[in-house]
Amino acid sequence: MFSENMQDDIEKVLLSEEEIQEIVTRVGAEVSRDYRGKNLVLVSVLKGSVVFMADLMRAIDIPLSIDFMVVSSYGNGTESSGKVKIIKDLDLDLSGQDLLLVEDILDTGRTLYNLREILKMRSPSSIKICTFLDKPERRQADIAADYVGARVPDEFVVGYGLDYSQRYRNLPYLGVLKPRVYE
Ligand code: IMP
Ligand code: MG
Repeated sequence: MFSENMQDDIEKVLLSEEEIQEIVTRVGAEVSRDYRGKNLVLVSVLKGSVVFMADLMRAIDIPLSIDFMVVSSYGNGTESSGKVKIIKDLDLDLSGQDLLLVEDILDTGRTLYNLREILKMRSPSSIKICTFLDKPERRQADIAADYVGARVPDEFVVGYGLDYSQRYRNLPYLGVLKPRVYE
């Protein structure tokens, strides 16, 4: 059951707006330092990463391009195989570009692992991964992020782009849902 007021569905705040701002500033500085003189393209995998993407790009002070992709991973039942189907492809040609994949959360890593394999075939100069959140305990694919905003425990988190049943993406902070919402 969803509450009328989104805040009432949140058990606890994991990252406040201020803490998120600090994270974004730090990651933006790291990316700016590492990609100076390169052809940086930020690729956001919709929809969860859209809020992080919008903030991160403004925390980077070197020239860059942005692009968006929609993918769906399909499998049998609840376990996703990670096999990726491209629903909306990039507009940009990646050859010679330094690609930075921007994600909301790296969980099992299966989707991103397979997406990276597909994008490697397009001859970018480099591919790296920047994730707002990392849940390393849950990893099932051989993939690690090059830039991590914050590590989070194995709890279901919402807000700052992350959803439960398409809701809560617009919360400006990161929170843990009350169990009654999904039970
Ligand atoms: P995976 O790494 O292939 O398992 O997929 C990660 C995706 O699962 C993310 O992009 C989110 O859409 C979703 N996801 C995983 N954990 C959470 C969570 O705690 N809250 C909201 N979405 C999540
Ligand atoms: Mg996602």
